[in-house]
Amino acid sequence: MKTLTLTLDSASYPIMIDAGLMKGVAALLKKENLGGRYVIISDSTVAKLYGTDLEQSMKKEGLDVSLLSFPAGEEHKHLKTYTALQEQLFELGCDRSTTIIALGGGVVGDVAGFVAATYMRGIPVVQIPTTLLAMVDASIGGKTGVDLETGKNIVGVFHQPRMVLIDPEVLGSLEADEIKNGLAECVKHGCIADVTLLDFIESKMDAFFAGNASVLAELIVRNCSIKVDVVMQDEKESGIRKMLNYGHTFGHALEVSRGYATISHGAAIALGMVVAARLSVSVGRLSKLECDRQIALLERIGFKITLADDSVEDIIKLMKKDKKMIDGALKFVLLERLGKVDLDVAVTDADIAAVMRGMA
Ligand code: GLY
Repeated sequence: MKTLTLTLDSASYPIMIDAGLMKGVAALLKKENLGGRYVIISDSTVAKLYGTDLEQSMKKEGLDVSLLSFPAGEEHKHLKTYTALQEQLFELGCDRSTTIIALGGGVVGDVAGFVAATYMRGIPVVQIPTTLLAMVDASIGGKTGVDLETGKNIVGVFHQPRMVLIDPEVLGSLEADEIKNGLAECVKHGCIADVTLLDFIESKMDAFFAGNASVLAELIVRNCSIKVDVVMQDEKESGIRKMLNYGHTFGHALEVSRGYATISHGAAIALGMVVAARLSVSVGRLSKLECDRQIALLERIGFKITLADDSVEDIIKLMKKDKKMIDGALKFVLLERLGKVDLDVAVTDADIAAVMRGMA
């Protein structure tokens, strides 16, 4: 078992990473004694794979637990799902002694975390991520919320979990596409903070897709360590945490313009990172060689790097509505070199248009 600790002024919590951990979650929760009652929130896919088993094992430990689920997919990360879950919690008679268990990928973690953050003005949440993307990124750092049709993650709050429990063995049940999505966030961490992580990803690619649990565990630990380090310095994203948005300003706009059900978050931020890297070259920061290395790695993971069907005007308009706009200017996280970022670089519409047209 590898345990990392994320310490903030407001909270301190463990991130436990261990192959086979899922089987011991019920006993661990009993020992932690977080409250009188538990509600597992999951999606329709994960509830079947792991939710019912977890509910049963918690009951065997004598814990009071219910399981709620909502349809899988980013298109369900919206206020209607959030409201329905709040109403179900109230109908179950949940009060402030209830703890939410968020069991699933990034969508489940964000929605269940937001429900926990706001139900009766806030109840505890334990994050149990079941996708690589959620394990290396979304479950850590307390971002919770839902999308609007017109904007990604627009409604939400920070609500730090009490614990994050990660079982790399769970990844064996994932489709290759889910590994791809998670690897996009891992490439992000390498590009912004640790070039040796890129070496590791390049050298272990086959093992990730083969579901090698020990190599995946090492990947998860390395990525979680980067994320923990950044969040501990800047919980509410007023400074250095912005680096984690590398590729996301463009990626979020692409998710909205193409439709949440049409493009995965991983594919969107892979394209967003290519745009950001090319912008970094065009404004005289990153070398072309390093930019090409990032693109080759994303292509090797399996992402199709083309914007042939995307409207430059629409994407720029959407990015300008993004919450990361400051004083009307589009600010990007760019790369100085692989492993080192420049925050808040002002970029013109013409720069973006030129890069997008070069990817058509
Ligand atoms: N996923 C980016 C962040 O947590 O800040």
